[in-house]
Amino acid sequence: MKILVSGGAGFIGSQVAQAYVEAGHQVVVLDDLSSGKADNLPAGARLARMDIADPAAAELVAQGGFEIINHHAAQVSVPASVADPLSDARSNVLGLINLLQAGCQAGLKRFIFVSSGGAVYGELPGQPVDESFPARPLSPYAVGKRSGELYLDYFAAHYGLQTVVLRYANVYGPRQVPHAEAGVVAIFMDRLLAGEPVTIFRSPDMPRGMKRDYTFVGDVVRANLAALTRGQGVYNIGTGLATDTLSLWEAVQAAAGRRGGHSFGPVRPGDIAYSALDCAQAAAGLGWRAEHDLAAGLAATWAWRVGR
Ligand SMILES: NC(=O)c1ccc[n+]([C@@H]2O[C@H](COP(=O)([O-])OP(=O)(O)OC[C@H]3O[C@@H](n4cnc5c(N)ncnc54)[C@H](O)[C@@H]3O)[C@@H](O)[C@H]2O)c1
Repeated sequence: MKILVSGGAGFIGSQVAQAYVEAGHQVVVLDDLSSGKADNLPAGARLARMDIADPAAAELVAQGGFEIINHHAAQVSVPASVADPLSDARSNVLGLINLLQAGCQAGLKRFIFVSSGGAVYGELPGQPVDESFPARPLSPYAVGKRSGELYLDYFAAHYGLQTVVLRYANVYGPRQVPHAEAGVVAIFMDRLLAGEPVTIFRSPDMPRGMKRDYTFVGDVVRANLAALTRGQGVYNIGTGLATDTLSLWEAVQAAAGRRGGHSFGPVRPGDIAYSALDCAQAAAGLGWRAEHDLAAGLAATWAWRVGR
Protein backbone atom coordinates (compact mmCIF):
# COMPACT_ATOMS: atom_id res chain seq x y z
CA MET A 1 0.00 0.00 0.00
CA LYS A 2 1.04 3.61 -0.45
CA ILE A 3 1.06 5.25 2.99
CA LEU A 4 1.75 8.81 4.15
CA VAL A 5 3.26 8.93 7.65
CA SER A 6 3.11 12.44 9.05
CA GLY A 7 5.61 13.07 11.83
CA GLY A 8 7.61 10.15 10.45
CA ALA A 9 10.93 11.76 11.38
CA GLY A 10 10.02 11.82 15.09
CA PHE A 11 10.50 9.41 17.97
CA ILE A 12 7.41 7.23 17.41
CA GLY A 13 6.45 8.06 13.81
CA SER A 14 9.88 7.11 12.43
CA GLN A 15 9.62 3.64 13.98
CA VAL A 16 6.11 3.23 12.55
CA ALA A 17 7.40 4.33 9.13
CA GLN A 18 10.24 1.81 9.43
CA ALA A 19 7.84 -1.03 10.29
CA TYR A 20 5.65 -0.10 7.32
CA VAL A 21 8.64 -0.12 4.95
CA GLU A 22 9.76 -3.48 6.37
CA ALA A 23 6.24 -4.84 5.79
CA GLY A 24 6.64 -3.98 2.09
CA HIS A 25 4.63 -0.75 1.92
CA GLN A 26 5.55 2.36 -0.04
CA VAL A 27 6.08 5.12 2.53
CA VAL A 28 6.25 8.90 2.20
CA VAL A 29 7.09 10.85 5.36
CA LEU A 30 5.58 14.30 5.81
CA ASP A 31 7.54 16.19 8.46
CA ASP A 32 8.79 19.75 8.94
CA LEU A 33 11.70 18.49 11.11
CA SER A 34 10.70 20.92 13.88
CA SER A 35 11.51 18.24 16.47
CA GLY A 36 12.17 15.19 14.27
CA LYS A 37 15.41 14.30 12.52
CA ALA A 38 16.03 13.30 8.90
CA ASP A 39 18.45 10.66 10.27
CA ASN A 40 15.47 8.85 11.81
CA LEU A 41 13.93 8.16 8.40
CA PRO A 42 14.07 4.52 7.35
CA ALA A 43 15.90 3.66 4.15
CA GLY A 44 13.36 3.51 1.38
CA ALA A 45 11.04 6.22 2.71
CA ARG A 46 10.91 9.56 0.94
CA LEU A 47 10.84 12.78 2.99
CA ALA A 48 8.47 15.61 2.06
CA ARG A 49 9.70 18.39 4.31
CA MET A 50 6.74 20.67 4.93
CA ASP A 51 4.29 21.88 7.55
CA ILE A 52 1.07 19.82 7.78
CA ALA A 53 -0.97 23.04 7.94
CA ASP A 54 0.46 24.48 4.70
CA PRO A 55 -1.31 24.30 1.32
CA ALA A 56 1.72 22.33 0.03
CA ALA A 57 0.81 19.47 2.40
CA ALA A 58 -2.74 19.39 1.04
CA GLU A 59 -1.28 19.35 -2.47
CA LEU A 60 0.98 16.42 -1.57
CA VAL A 61 -2.03 14.47 -0.26
CA ALA A 62 -4.18 15.44 -3.25
CA GLN A 63 -1.56 14.25 -5.77
CA GLY A 64 0.05 11.43 -3.80
CA GLY A 65 -2.38 8.57 -4.42
CA PHE A 66 -2.23 7.46 -0.77
CA GLU A 67 -4.54 4.72 0.50
CA ILE A 68 -3.74 5.40 4.14
CA ILE A 69 -2.54 8.37 6.19
CA ASN A 70 -0.92 7.62 9.53
CA HIS A 71 -0.91 10.91 11.42
CA HIS A 72 1.79 11.32 14.06
CA ALA A 73 2.84 14.94 13.34
CA ALA A 74 1.92 17.25 16.19
CA GLN A 75 3.07 19.95 18.52
CA VAL A 76 3.69 17.56 21.44
CA SER A 77 4.35 19.79 24.46
CA VAL A 78 1.53 20.47 26.95
CA PRO A 79 3.28 23.55 28.46
CA ALA A 80 3.93 24.94 24.93
CA SER A 81 0.21 24.53 24.20
CA VAL A 82 -0.61 26.50 27.35
CA ALA A 83 1.88 29.24 26.43
CA ASP A 84 0.69 29.49 22.81
CA PRO A 85 -2.70 27.82 22.20
CA LEU A 86 -3.03 29.37 18.75
CA SER A 87 0.16 27.84 17.46
CA ASP A 88 -0.76 24.48 19.04
CA ALA A 89 -4.15 24.53 17.29
CA ARG A 90 -2.57 25.50 13.98
CA SER A 91 -0.58 22.24 13.95
CA ASN A 92 -2.82 19.93 15.91
CA VAL A 93 -6.26 20.99 14.65
CA LEU A 94 -5.86 22.93 11.39
CA GLY A 95 -3.00 20.72 10.18
CA LEU A 96 -5.13 17.65 10.78
CA ILE A 97 -8.13 19.10 8.94
CA ASN A 98 -5.85 20.09 6.06
CA LEU A 99 -4.80 16.44 5.58
CA LEU A 100 -8.30 15.02 6.17
CA GLN A 101 -9.98 17.34 3.69
CA ALA A 102 -7.38 16.81 0.96
CA GLY A 103 -7.34 13.05 1.60
CA CYS A 104 -11.10 12.61 1.43
CA GLN A 105 -11.32 14.59 -1.78
CA ALA A 106 -8.58 12.36 -3.24
CA GLY A 107 -10.28 9.09 -2.32
CA LEU A 108 -8.27 8.22 0.80
CA LYS A 109 -9.50 4.96 2.39
CA ARG A 110 -8.23 5.00 5.93
CA PHE A 111 -6.86 7.51 8.45
CA ILE A 112 -4.96 6.50 11.60
CA PHE A 113 -4.88 9.37 14.08
CA VAL A 114 -2.67 9.47 17.15
CA SER A 115 -4.37 10.91 20.20
CA SER A 116 -3.32 10.90 23.84
CA GLY A 117 -4.86 8.73 26.53
CA GLY A 118 -2.68 10.57 29.04
CA ALA A 119 -4.28 13.89 28.05
CA VAL A 120 -7.85 13.56 26.74
CA TYR A 121 -9.37 11.91 29.84
CA GLY A 122 -8.04 14.48 32.30
CA GLU A 123 -7.97 13.39 35.96
CA LEU A 124 -8.67 9.67 36.43
CA PRO A 125 -10.27 7.96 39.42
CA GLY A 126 -7.18 5.92 40.39
CA GLN A 127 -7.86 2.89 38.21
CA PRO A 128 -7.39 2.19 34.48
CA VAL A 129 -10.16 3.65 32.31
CA ASP A 130 -11.60 2.37 29.07
CA GLU A 131 -12.66 4.42 26.05
CA SER A 132 -16.16 5.08 27.44
CA PHE A 133 -14.70 7.23 30.24
CA PRO A 134 -15.74 10.85 29.56
CA ALA A 135 -13.07 13.03 27.99
CA ARG A 136 -12.31 16.09 30.13
CA PRO A 137 -9.30 17.67 28.44
CA LEU A 138 -7.42 20.07 30.74
CA SER A 139 -4.93 21.75 28.39
CA PRO A 140 -5.01 23.24 24.89
CA TYR A 141 -2.96 20.20 23.76
CA ALA A 142 -5.61 17.84 25.14
CA VAL A 143 -8.46 19.93 23.69
CA GLY A 144 -6.72 19.78 20.31
CA LYS A 145 -6.37 15.99 20.43
CA ARG A 146 -10.02 15.57 21.42
CA SER A 147 -11.07 17.97 18.65
CA GLY A 148 -9.10 15.87 16.20
CA GLU A 149 -11.03 12.77 17.26
CA LEU A 150 -14.32 14.58 16.66
CA TYR A 151 -13.19 15.78 13.23
CA LEU A 152 -12.40 12.18 12.36
CA ASP A 153 -15.98 11.23 13.30
CA TYR A 154 -17.24 13.94 10.95
CA PHE A 155 -15.06 12.83 8.02
CA ALA A 156 -15.99 9.17 8.65
CA ALA A 157 -19.71 10.02 8.57
CA HIS A 158 -19.55 12.41 5.64
CA TYR A 159 -17.04 10.66 3.35
CA GLY A 160 -17.16 7.05 4.53
CA LEU A 161 -13.52 7.34 5.61
CA GLN A 162 -12.33 4.42 7.77
CA THR A 163 -10.83 5.93 10.91
CA VAL A 164 -8.75 4.54 13.76
CA VAL A 165 -7.85 6.67 16.77
CA LEU A 166 -4.97 5.40 18.91
CA ARG A 167 -4.95 6.99 22.36
CA TYR A 168 -1.39 6.40 23.56
CA ALA A 169 -0.37 6.15 27.18
CA ASN A 170 3.15 7.44 28.09
CA VAL A 171 5.40 6.07 25.38
CA TYR A 172 9.13 5.48 25.96
CA GLY A 173 11.93 3.75 24.09
CA PRO A 174 14.80 4.20 21.65
CA ARG A 175 14.97 7.55 19.79
CA GLN A 176 13.07 9.44 22.49
CA VAL A 177 14.86 12.68 23.24
CA PRO A 178 14.52 14.36 26.62
CA HIS A 179 12.29 17.41 26.58
CA ALA A 180 12.28 19.66 29.63
CA GLU A 181 8.80 18.60 30.68
CA ALA A 182 8.24 15.19 29.13
CA GLY A 183 10.05 12.00 28.25
CA VAL A 184 10.86 11.06 31.83
CA VAL A 185 12.61 7.80 30.88
CA ALA A 186 14.92 9.65 28.47
CA ILE A 187 15.60 12.31 31.11
CA PHE A 188 16.37 9.69 33.80
CA MET A 189 18.76 7.81 31.51
CA ASP A 190 20.60 10.99 30.53
CA ARG A 191 21.02 11.95 34.20
CA LEU A 192 22.23 8.48 35.11
CA LEU A 193 24.87 8.62 32.38
CA ALA A 194 25.92 12.11 33.44
CA GLY A 195 26.10 11.09 37.13
CA GLU A 196 23.54 13.74 38.02
CA PRO A 197 20.62 13.28 40.44
CA VAL A 198 16.99 13.29 39.29
CA THR A 199 14.02 15.10 40.82
CA ILE A 200 10.90 13.12 41.71
CA PHE A 201 7.85 15.40 41.76
CA ARG A 202 5.44 14.36 44.48
CA SER A 203 2.54 15.47 46.65
CA PRO A 204 1.51 14.44 50.18
CA ASP A 205 -1.09 12.12 48.59
CA MET A 206 1.46 10.55 46.23
CA PRO A 207 4.71 10.25 48.25
CA ARG A 208 6.38 8.14 45.53
CA GLY A 209 5.36 10.53 42.76
CA MET A 210 2.76 10.54 40.01
CA LYS A 211 1.59 7.27 38.47
CA ARG A 212 1.75 6.69 34.73
CA ASP A 213 1.16 3.87 32.24
CA TYR A 214 4.61 3.50 30.64
CA THR A 215 4.33 1.76 27.27
CA PHE A 216 7.23 0.57 25.11
CA VAL A 217 7.47 2.09 21.63
CA GLY A 218 7.86 -1.32 19.98
CA ASP A 219 4.41 -2.28 21.25
CA VAL A 220 2.98 1.01 19.98
CA VAL A 221 4.47 0.28 16.55
CA ARG A 222 2.66 -3.09 16.48
CA ALA A 223 -0.64 -1.30 17.16
CA ASN A 224 0.03 0.89 14.11
CA LEU A 225 0.73 -2.21 11.99
CA ALA A 226 -2.56 -3.76 13.11
CA ALA A 227 -4.46 -0.53 12.42
CA LEU A 228 -3.56 -0.70 8.72
CA THR A 229 -6.18 -3.38 8.18
CA ARG A 230 -8.13 -3.77 11.42
CA GLY A 231 -10.29 -1.66 13.68
CA GLN A 232 -12.63 1.28 13.45
CA GLY A 233 -13.06 3.90 16.16
CA VAL A 234 -11.10 4.68 19.30
CA TYR A 235 -8.54 2.44 21.04
CA ASN A 236 -6.52 2.95 24.19
CA ILE A 237 -2.92 1.86 23.68
CA GLY A 238 -1.11 1.18 26.95
CA THR A 239 -0.27 -1.55 29.45
CA GLY A 240 -3.01 -0.96 32.04
CA LEU A 241 -0.32 -0.78 34.74
CA ALA A 242 0.39 2.42 36.67
CA THR A 243 3.99 2.94 37.85
CA ASP A 244 4.94 5.70 40.28
CA THR A 245 7.95 7.88 39.45
CA LEU A 246 10.18 6.52 42.23
CA SER A 247 9.54 2.92 41.07
CA LEU A 248 10.31 4.02 37.52
CA TRP A 249 13.61 5.53 38.69
CA GLU A 250 14.46 2.28 40.50
CA ALA A 251 13.59 0.27 37.38
CA VAL A 252 15.77 2.52 35.18
CA GLN A 253 18.72 2.00 37.56
CA ALA A 254 18.14 -1.77 37.53
CA ALA A 255 18.04 -1.83 33.71
CA ALA A 256 21.25 0.22 33.58
CA GLY A 257 23.02 -1.77 36.30
CA ARG A 258 24.15 1.41 38.01
CA ARG A 259 22.97 3.64 40.84
CA GLY A 260 22.13 7.34 40.85
CA GLY A 261 20.84 9.89 43.33
CA HIS A 262 17.47 11.53 43.61
CA SER A 263 15.72 14.32 45.46
CA PHE A 264 12.07 15.28 45.75
CA GLY A 265 10.26 18.37 44.50
CA PRO A 266 6.67 19.64 44.56
CA VAL A 267 4.22 18.54 41.86
CA ARG A 268 4.17 20.91 38.89
CA PRO A 269 0.98 22.76 38.00
CA GLY A 270 -1.23 20.73 35.68
CA ASP A 271 0.39 17.36 36.47
CA ILE A 272 -2.32 14.74 36.82
CA ALA A 273 -1.83 12.30 39.69
CA TYR A 274 -2.75 9.05 38.00
CA SER A 275 -3.06 7.77 34.45
CA ALA A 276 -3.47 4.20 33.18
CA LEU A 277 -5.44 2.76 30.29
CA ASP A 278 -7.70 -0.28 30.04
CA CYS A 279 -6.88 -1.74 26.62
CA ALA A 280 -9.45 -4.55 26.28
CA GLN A 281 -10.96 -2.81 23.25
CA ALA A 282 -7.61 -2.85 21.43
CA ALA A 283 -7.31 -6.57 22.18
CA ALA A 284 -10.76 -7.20 20.68
CA GLY A 285 -10.66 -4.75 17.75
CA LEU A 286 -6.99 -4.71 16.75
CA GLY A 287 -5.85 -8.05 18.16
CA TRP A 288 -3.27 -6.03 20.07
CA ARG A 289 -1.88 -6.02 23.56
CA ALA A 290 1.37 -4.70 25.04
CA GLU A 291 4.04 -7.43 25.15
CA HIS A 292 6.96 -5.68 26.86
CA ASP A 293 6.95 -5.32 30.61
CA LEU A 294 8.77 -2.32 32.06
CA ALA A 295 12.01 -4.23 32.74
CA ALA A 296 12.23 -5.52 29.15
CA GLY A 297 11.33 -2.15 27.62
CA LEU A 298 13.81 -0.26 29.79
CA ALA A 299 16.57 -2.78 29.03
CA ALA A 300 16.05 -2.27 25.28
CA THR A 301 15.96 1.51 25.75
CA TRP A 302 19.16 1.54 27.84
CA ALA A 303 20.96 -0.64 25.26
CA TRP A 304 20.04 1.91 22.60
CA ARG A 305 21.01 4.87 24.81
CA VAL A 306 24.50 3.62 25.64
CA GLY A 307 25.14 2.45 22.07
CA ARG A 308 24.14 5.76 20.53
N1 LIG B 1 5.51 10.33 23.36
C1 LIG B 1 4.38 10.08 24.02
O1 LIG B 1 4.41 9.61 25.16
C2 LIG B 1 3.04 10.36 23.38
C3 LIG B 1 1.88 10.10 24.14
C4 LIG B 1 0.64 10.35 23.55
C5 LIG B 1 0.55 10.82 22.25
N2 LIG B 1 1.71 11.09 21.56
C6 LIG B 1 1.58 11.58 20.19
O2 LIG B 1 2.40 10.81 19.34
C7 LIG B 1 2.80 11.60 18.22
C8 LIG B 1 4.31 11.51 18.05
O3 LIG B 1 4.93 12.05 19.23
P1 LIG B 1 6.49 11.82 19.55
O4 LIG B 1 6.59 11.58 21.01
O5 LIG B 1 7.08 10.85 18.60
O6 LIG B 1 7.06 13.30 19.31
P2 LIG B 1 8.11 13.87 18.24
O7 LIG B 1 8.25 15.31 18.55
O8 LIG B 1 9.34 13.03 18.21
O9 LIG B 1 7.34 13.67 16.86
C9 LIG B 1 6.52 14.64 16.26
C10 LIG B 1 6.96 14.79 14.81
O10 LIG B 1 6.07 15.68 14.15
C11 LIG B 1 6.81 16.67 13.44
N3 LIG B 1 5.98 17.87 13.38
C12 LIG B 1 5.56 18.63 14.42
N4 LIG B 1 4.77 19.64 13.99
C13 LIG B 1 4.69 19.50 12.64
C14 LIG B 1 4.04 20.24 11.61
N5 LIG B 1 3.29 21.32 11.90
N6 LIG B 1 4.18 19.82 10.33
C15 LIG B 1 4.94 18.73 10.02
N7 LIG B 1 5.58 18.00 10.96
C16 LIG B 1 5.47 18.38 12.24
C17 LIG B 1 8.10 16.83 14.22
O11 LIG B 1 9.19 17.34 13.44
C18 LIG B 1 8.36 15.39 14.68
O12 LIG B 1 9.12 14.66 13.72
C19 LIG B 1 2.25 13.01 18.48
O13 LIG B 1 1.02 13.16 17.79
C20 LIG B 1 2.02 13.01 19.98
O14 LIG B 1 1.02 13.95 20.35
C21 LIG B 1 2.94 10.87 22.09
